[in-house]
Amino acid sequence: MPHGTLSLLACISLLPGALSAPSHHPSPHCRFLPGDRQWPRNSDWAQLNTTVSGRLIAGKPLAHVCHGPDYDAAACAEVRNRWSEPPLYFPDPVNVMSPYWLNLTCSPFSDRDNAPCELGNLASYAINVTSAEDVVAGLAFAQNHNIRVQVKNTGHDYLGRSTGPGSLALWTHNLKDIAFINYTSPQYTGPAAKLGAGVQAFDAYKVAAEHGLRVVGGYCPTVGIAGGYLQGAGHGPLLGAYGLAADNVLEFEAVTVDGRHLTASPTSHADLFWALSGGGAGNYAVVLSVTTKAHRDGVVAGGSLTVDHLQNGDDEAFWEAVQAWHRRLLVFDTIPGLTTVYRITNASFQVTQATLVDHPASDLEDNLRPFLRELDALGLHYTYEVNDHPSYYGHFATYNPGLPYGSYLNNETIGGRLVSRETVRERLPELTAVLRNITSTQTGTGAPVNVNGVAGNATHLRTVTAPGRNAVLPAWREALYHLIIEEWFDGAGPVDVFQEAQAAVNEHQELLRAVDPEGGAYINEATFDNPAWKEDYFGENYGELLRIKKRYDPDFVLYGPSAVGSDAWTRTAEGRLCRRHLDL
Ligand SMILES: Cc1cc2nc3c(=O)[nH]c(=O)nc-3n(C[C@H](O)[C@H](O)[C@H](O)COP(=O)(O)OP(=O)(O)OC[C@H]3O[C@@H](n4cnc5c(N)ncnc54)[C@H](O)[C@@H]3O)c2cc1C
Ligand SMILES: *[C@@H]1O[C@H](CO)[C@@H](O)[C@H](O)[C@H]1NC(C)=O
Ligand SMILES: *[C@@H]1O[C@H](CO)[C@@H](O)[C@H](O)[C@H]1NC(C)=O
Ligand SMILES: *[C@@H]1O[C@H](CO)[C@@H](O)[C@H](O)[C@H]1NC(C)=O
Ligand SMILES: *[C@@H]1O[C@H](CO)[C@@H](O)[C@H](O)[C@H]1NC(C)=O
Ligand SMILES: *[C@@H]1O[C@H](CO)[C@@H](O)[C@H](O)[C@H]1NC(C)=O
Ligand SMILES: *[C@@H]1O[C@H](CO)[C@@H](O)[C@H](O)[C@H]1NC(C)=O
Ligand SMILES: *[C@@H]1O[C@H](CO)[C@@H](O)[C@H](O)[C@H]1NC(C)=O
Ligand SMILES: *[C@@H]1O[C@H](CO)[C@@H](O)[C@H](O)[C@H]1NC(C)=O
Repeated sequence: MPHGTLSLLACISLLPGALSAPSHHPSPHCRFLPGDRQWPRNSDWAQLNTTVSGRLIAGKPLAHVCHGPDYDAAACAEVRNRWSEPPLYFPDPVNVMSPYWLNLTCSPFSDRDNAPCELGNLASYAINVTSAEDVVAGLAFAQNHNIRVQVKNTGHDYLGRSTGPGSLALWTHNLKDIAFINYTSPQYTGPAAKLGAGVQAFDAYKVAAEHGLRVVGGYCPTVGIAGGYLQGAGHGPLLGAYGLAADNVLEFEAVTVDGRHLTASPTSHADLFWALSGGGAGNYAVVLSVTTKAHRDGVVAGGSLTVDHLQNGDDEAFWEAVQAWHRRLLVFDTIPGLTTVYRITNASFQVTQATLVDHPASDLEDNLRPFLRELDALGLHYTYEVNDHPSYYGHFATYNPGLPYGSYLNNETIGGRLVSRETVRERLPELTAVLRNITSTQTGTGAPVNVNGVAGNATHLRTVTAPGRNAVLPAWREALYHLIIEEWFDGAGPVDVFQEAQAAVNEHQELLRAVDPEGGAYINEATFDNPAWKEDYFGENYGELLRIKKRYDPDFVLYGPSAVGSDAWTRTAEGRLCRRHLDL
């Protein structure tokens, strides 16, 4: 960023804007908001609408049908009933899932006539993107009019990166094309899938199975693949088989903020390819499609296990079992194709899904047996099952019921940390004490706090990616597992509860940091206001990512909380982004 005289001017011009009547005379170093004199006129929006062939949509809060002239009793009841369910949000151009960012500025639970219904943090307009030209037009409009712009795909993001007050959203949800190809490049020869930016895991898994293939995606079937998921790393049931989603990318089709429609691969715009592959979502360019490795399908073993704490009573034995599981994970780490997900609450320890690709159920059982013996020795009761399916899709459907959309809910705040192998080897008692502490707390509404682990070996040896080939946080390679903290609450609010949960997750993350200072954290399942976001989410890649950000987006047009270079901006109380005079 330029400094010296220019930054001094920026500093001076910022101050009067901030002190006097900000909505009418905002500094040109701040983005304009609706109500500003400089906000685009209706005729400007109409012209943009013509440019994008009528695909401009005015943003509306989902619960607008619960208020004022738009009131519709049946539609409102539907919104209220589905308020905590992702499928309400992903087909919408501007509404996102995070209760923290929705902030109930238009609540389906509040009074029909007297409660406000405002857009709040939601985008003012969205372009229903169908082509590169739509994206070029949107990016140019936002820059010409000095307004905020970001990509909204499914709206799963916890960090608030797919929404923004007074913004134009580039809504990529309808880019649903899927094609399977035989790919050849110096790095990889084999089957591949070209996925439009709007393709969600449930779309891809099913069609891949029909082609005798598997593609890497998340547990939650409604998360997009090419969007925030893969651009931030991306874990799922195939983690221990093929690595992170970002490790599987062959190339991106993207549009840069200056309007270039290009291919980013290891041989074309290699710097952009590197940054888009794990360096944080929505920040370097707008992705139209991704070409990712596909893997030959075949038998998949699955399993689950539950140790009921309440039934067993014995606290010490229960936590000894949790430690035994951690020691077992060090062994699982050496088994190609094995990935486990487990949940620890104050009431149970549950392996919710174990996945072992290209092996029958008996092999998974052999791997679990030493742990079952340890449970026996501790005198703990448990239930478990193993099975196998001829294809990955059958396995996925068994452990993620309710397809296509699954049964995930969004009335929670989450955070987490990557837990290194070294921590588990050297400081397991300290780690267990922290897990015990976290799961003994409860949220404002009295719901218990849960901890989830996703364990799979993502070393370069396993994922067959050269070190430095992508911008995935290096801590992922040292991690034995990714730990997720979940704080549940009543989606109806009040909003204070969302804020308390956010603060509580941050506190819990600090307890983990104390045990594992080098661990880092997975940006997609983390907090936007973690003060150590640069080290935790990007590690040693931060400097290079910032150089690439400045190369492809020198004016910081693309912005998201906790994105590389996002400290070029500050958010005022009214939600306006203003440029800081930092020397980045
Ligand atoms: C219920 C739930 C379950 C989850 N499960 C998993 C899981 O199993 N594994 C996992 O790894 N993560 C999981 N996540 C986290 C998920 O990876 C992130 O929320 C991710 O950001 C979602 O990406 P999206 O594109 O679907 O969502 P969005 O919120 O629409 O977008 C997220 C970010 O990506 C950017 N973006 C989206 N599309 C594009 C594009 N085409 N070009 C450029 N930028 C783009 C947006 O601008 C934003 O910054 C889960 C989240 C939720 C809420
Ligand atoms: C854009 O144009 C289409 C087609 O004329 C129209 O239906 C739509 O309402 C317009 N969008 C906005 C935001 O006015
Ligand atoms: C949510 O709304 C409250 C006021 O009700 C406000 O203080 C807070 O800043 C808002 N949070 C976000 C993330 O917009
Ligand atoms: C967005 O565009 C797609 C493709 O043209 C169309 O099918 C869909 O109805 C549009 N969605 C909205 C909300 O306008
Ligand atoms: C890829 O190659 C295999 C055999 O080498 C062939 O059977 C298959 O049809 C090809 N797939 C595509 C999409 O071309
Ligand atoms: C958890 O740890 C915090 C910080 O060390 C401490 O204040 C708190 O008392 C602990 N809670 C429990 C239940 O151990
Ligand atoms: C677990 O936490 C919940 C809510 O905080 C509490 O009601 C319950 O008694 C706790 N159970 C155990 C076994 O500690
Ligand atoms: C991870 O997987 C690779 C390849 O299977 C293996 O060589 C290695 O021992 C495993 N564990 C660690 C800690 O690297
Ligand atoms: C989360 O939302 C679901 C569905 O609305 C609800 O059943 C559940 O009770 C909520 N969780 C909490 C802790 O309030």
